[in-house]
Amino acid sequence: MYFGVDYYPEHWDKSEWGEHIKLMKKANFNIVRIAEFAWGRLEPREDEFDFLWLDEIMEKLHEAGIKVILGTPTAAPPKWLVNKYDVLMRDRYGRKRGYGSRRECCSNSPDYRRRADIITEKMAERYGKHPAVAAWQIDNEFGCHASTRCYCENCRREFASALSKKYGSIGELNRRWGTVFWSQEYEDFDDVILPGYTSCEPENAQQWSHNPSLDMDFYRFSSDSWVRFEKSQADIIRKYSDRPITHNFMGHFSDIDYYKLAEPLDFVSWDNYVDNQWNHETYENSAMAHEIMRGAKNKNFWVMEEQAGPAGWDKFGGTPRPGQIRLWTYQAIAHGCDGMVYFRFKSAPFGMEQYWLGVIDYDGIPRRRYFEIQKTGEEIKRLASKFEGAVSETDVLIVKSYENTWSSKIKRNTENFDYRGILYDYYAANLAVGTDPACGPITAVSGGCKAVYAPAYSIVTDEEARILENYVSNGGTLVLTYRSGIRDEDNNMLRTTPPGALRLLTGIRLEEFDSSPVEVGVSDGFGRSRVWRDIISTETAHAIAVYEDEFYKGSPAVTVNTFGKGRVIYVACDLSGEGLLKLVRYITEQSGARYIEHPEGTEVIRRRAADGSEYTMLLNHNDKSVKTELRGVSLFDGSEFDGTLEPYGVEIIE
Ligand code: GAL
Repeated sequence: MYFGVDYYPEHWDKSEWGEHIKLMKKANFNIVRIAEFAWGRLEPREDEFDFLWLDEIMEKLHEAGIKVILGTPTAAPPKWLVNKYDVLMRDRYGRKRGYGSRRECCSNSPDYRRRADIITEKMAERYGKHPAVAAWQIDNEFGCHASTRCYCENCRREFASALSKKYGSIGELNRRWGTVFWSQEYEDFDDVILPGYTSCEPENAQQWSHNPSLDMDFYRFSSDSWVRFEKSQADIIRKYSDRPITHNFMGHFSDIDYYKLAEPLDFVSWDNYVDNQWNHETYENSAMAHEIMRGAKNKNFWVMEEQAGPAGWDKFGGTPRPGQIRLWTYQAIAHGCDGMVYFRFKSAPFGMEQYWLGVIDYDGIPRRRYFEIQKTGEEIKRLASKFEGAVSETDVLIVKSYENTWSSKIKRNTENFDYRGILYDYYAANLAVGTDPACGPITAVSGGCKAVYAPAYSIVTDEEARILENYVSNGGTLVLTYRSGIRDEDNNMLRTTPPGALRLLTGIRLEEFDSSPVEVGVSDGFGRSRVWRDIISTETAHAIAVYEDEFYKGSPAVTVNTFGKGRVIYVACDLSGEGLLKLVRYITEQSGARYIEHPEGTEVIRRRAADGSEYTMLLNHNDKSVKTELRGVSLFDGSEFDGTLEPYGVEIIE
């Protein structure tokens, strides 16, 4: 199994490389990712390339038995490129982005694309068969630092051409978008605007003041543009190299359709920062991000950047507590991580990321964090065959849709509605109950699932409805909620009664809804609803809970419908806390899904190794020790596990 670190040899004097490599070897690192921001040093002037330094460090790493993930450096354009070509993105007010950060170039700029392809080709040609190269990383974190949506003239032209391919005639576009509203009918595809700045003052401008179909197509187009940009590099690399290709994703980030971004790649990797200037992530949030990454390609993934120290840009976040870096590492592995790479090797005393500390400090001295990583590496070396290619035994799936994310960003339903939030709530409740759910696209719904949650699935295509019908007919349990089946594929409201294509499945119909900021009790221990209530009539379903207040008191709040051999639960309102836990427990029981009881703040995950053997990973995210009921023989040292997990402790038992 690969265990490594992100390394920037170009930041250091060559005389230090030897010492760095020595420390890497001691830390048990067997791979480094390099070069993903080194465009300026690789092509200091247009068409003048300097690969000698990269040759040299690759040779040194190779001699030391350390493999390389070679990054294409296109996220950080050199100054000459920006000086000579008009490649910078435009924001939604039409303002040009400034130089001085990174990822500021437009994926639809022909000059940027051409130069990005040239440097990629040069690298692929030179290193495609290099014995040290284990994998390629394309670019870095598409969408990081800026919107994925650019409003430049190139984007406008490309968008017009994409729309023309999609709709065939402008009349069809006008009809489907409903541009008759406010006299917005277009005469020609070239006439179509980008949904940027509207006529109100910039500080009041709302992106949702545009036509929602236009907005939706622009989200799709912008996402597709990055996929195309990535694919172009992947195609070039494949001409020269048979090594696997990845890109480093960003977990929960949703402005790019990660299912599509994963397609041209051999594997997905991602960057996991748990505690930094901006976030102190819950462990559930990190767990879910890992699962989203696994679901992006339905395949184990790598962590390409794992937090290794205090982190921030202009302020520090917290420092990892003793044991936490090891815990985060095993949490990743428990959710399907097949390769672990820490960010970064040596902390940079200069540049924007002075405050993003690495495995060793500015003075190059290994301390607590280094030794913890070293120990983790030692363990992983011994247990690699158990981890690599291992799979979770879960039979619960949470469906995430990028289209529905965009739709709910464009039209938010109500102040407190949040698509990511509702997915998270169902995920976290499942984690608490112990089903350790997977996350993935609706196409991952299969006979292997006992329970599928597809909350707030607002746009449902006919094909998707068929997938769900098949699944339920054959005995599956499906959970749908309010804001499902309300829109068509053009992001318009349905003209038929919601939940539209899901009506037969759910056995209910929507009559009214209430998003007023009131609290409404839900009977039978389901707690209180604070965000949204669908007021529904049952057709073939029956209610298992009703509202306790308001003018719809007594009407169904949670229903169950039998469909074929399976059942569909419709949750007509938001639930939280104990109420949501009760629902998830009920669904787990009804569906027969697997679960493992475990103390609060812990994860207990059953995994099957590639050789068929099974083991259980126990992760304690609490800062105090906890006692579990589970017993077994520790894979770490063969001792009998007595059920005690240390603060931030990890145990793996057979
Ligand atoms: C990631 C990025 C890295 C580094 C890190 C810390 O988003 O991929 O290059 O910037 O954050 O800021």
